[in-house]
Amino acid sequence: MQINSFEEYQKTYQLSVDQPEQFWAGIADNFLWKKKWDKVLSWNFSEPNIKWFEGAKLNITENCLDRHLADNGDKPAIIWEPNDPQKDSITLSYRILHEQVCRFANVLKKNGVQKGDRVCIYMPMVPELAVAVLACARIGAVHSVVFGGFSAKSIADRINDAQCRVVITADGAFRGNKQIQLKEVIDDALIGCPSVAKVIVLTHTRTPVSMLKGRDIWWEDEIKLVDTNCPAEEMDAEDLLFILYTSGSTGKPKGVVHTVGGYMVYAGYTFSNVFNYQPDEVFFCTADIGWITGHSYIVYGPLSQGATTVIFEGIPTYPDASRMWQVVEKHKVNILYTAPTAIRSLMSFGLQPIEGVDLSSLRVLGSVGEPINEEAWHWFDENIGKSNCPIVDTWWQTETGGIMISPIAFVTPTKPSFATLPLPGIQPVLVDEQGNEIEGNGVSGNLCIKFPWPGMLRTTYGDHERCKLTYFSTYENMYFTGDGCLRDEDGYYRITGRVDDVINVSGHRIGTAEVENAINMHAGVVESAVVGFPHEVKGQGIYAFVIFPNAHGDEDLTRKDILQTVTRVIGAIAKPDKILFVSGLPKTRSGKIMRRILRKIAEGDTTNLGDITTLLDPAVVDEIIEKAKK
Ligand code: WT7
Repeated sequence: MQINSFEEYQKTYQLSVDQPEQFWAGIADNFLWKKKWDKVLSWNFSEPNIKWFEGAKLNITENCLDRHLADNGDKPAIIWEPNDPQKDSITLSYRILHEQVCRFANVLKKNGVQKGDRVCIYMPMVPELAVAVLACARIGAVHSVVFGGFSAKSIADRINDAQCRVVITADGAFRGNKQIQLKEVIDDALIGCPSVAKVIVLTHTRTPVSMLKGRDIWWEDEIKLVDTNCPAEEMDAEDLLFILYTSGSTGKPKGVVHTVGGYMVYAGYTFSNVFNYQPDEVFFCTADIGWITGHSYIVYGPLSQGATTVIFEGIPTYPDASRMWQVVEKHKVNILYTAPTAIRSLMSFGLQPIEGVDLSSLRVLGSVGEPINEEAWHWFDENIGKSNCPIVDTWWQTETGGIMISPIAFVTPTKPSFATLPLPGIQPVLVDEQGNEIEGNGVSGNLCIKFPWPGMLRTTYGDHERCKLTYFSTYENMYFTGDGCLRDEDGYYRITGRVDDVINVSGHRIGTAEVENAINMHAGVVESAVVGFPHEVKGQGIYAFVIFPNAHGDEDLTRKDILQTVTRVIGAIAKPDKILFVSGLPKTRSGKIMRRILRKIAEGDTTNLGDITTLLDPAVVDEIIEKAKK
């Protein structure tokens, strides 16, 4: 199912628009189904109600594991690189991974997990994380992986929203020279989570942990009590595979729901094509499995294609800034998929960390998560790809399940900072504020998708209305991405960033409302407003304007207190980079905060604030500008 020339791309694209069902049935034929579908697609975007491969039966783990055993049982499925380079890496063949998944699936069953039950996974980047994810899929349990950087309260909210029955975690995680006490965070979270009956704890850092009798059990003990025989549960194509929480412009994070059949087809199809994966190649995606990138391009995409996927526990700068390149050399990585923020951070160390490192195994480079600036693109191209590897700048979202707009390696001519063209099967449109489609080239607007694709979200867990409101109500009969976009004279797409109140910090989505709510929980805070601002490494930083009448004493300490509150409520990833104490916020007469103005001030551009005459009290703007200068 690989596209090999630009001509073929154009032909395939046209077919995918003219005969989408035929196109997707052709792609789906490359997978293993226990029973084929009765109908490829039924849909409407008004409810929304989207069904792919209705009537089909399958299990995604048979596609990711069993089907490779006959010919490729001894091939490495996972290469694990630990945080500490002195420790040994671990390779799991497809056969071993299959065995471990089946065994752990039996542990889940033994502990009462049934098809449809939700399981929360809060683990370090170790092979057992992939095992846990796949074990859920094996028995039809719905996994909800929570990134290791979220706080106890965030985890509790997610566990309660999904009513998880079991939590899988570890004693702790290594991250650079730090240790994170995962089990302790889970213990705090579970004080408010009555649905959780069991906690399975993997030994990793071997830090002391409290084990609650009747609830907490050790991974290592449990796997001794079961065997490795676990037939794959027969799933309907539209059964739930997983929930993944993501931030939006309002309220609490929502649980994006993906289903088994469509997600599998989409993750596998995009992986194989975008990266031009060849048998026996080593694929290294530097994301965390706690994000969608890790779900689709560390676990499901690569394994469904029988690829070798690298799981890296550490960070690019530990023990030094050559680590990521060392990992490439050590494991002879052929395809490296990373984020602009990592590239920018490594750029700042100069070329010394690359000197003497053999990067000649690299064939394809990928970027994801945020717009990649031209400087970072060229640096990546010249110094890592030695001007010899195509860069695929892949635009997509948690909600899309897989890559949507992206070059296909060796097929699509690239252009720095452009995600280029939609993959076959994807129909992007640009719309104006009124919802009219903007046709032609050399235009910009809000990015929507007007036809379904198999990997799209089906609902937001427990609240279908919210899914409809967030994605399908802004523009009629279209999925609204929340991104602004430019289509240049060549028809190439360039994503310009979010047009809603979502900030993209180091490729992580953070809702301004969420951060404001967290800050407002801090005693003494009257009100706050949060905006994004350009940040050299992170892409965007978080800027908080805070009304705190008694902060005069020790402002620095008060700032630290507020950061502590945000860390407790959301997690360290949501900590503002800047906190400015102000006595008022610019509001319209109807009481709406004018973020446009705050954004300008945060950017340091106060020359053109636009019309401020509609403000309730224009004088606050001068005060904020003055304070921001200091
Ligand atoms: C948002 C989605 C998709 C996996 C990682 C993030 C931004 C993503 C690109 C890109 C410009 C990008 C968008 C999007 N984004 N990839 N190649 N160029 N912007 O997933 O957390 O769901 O965030 O990330 O703004 O809406 P996510």
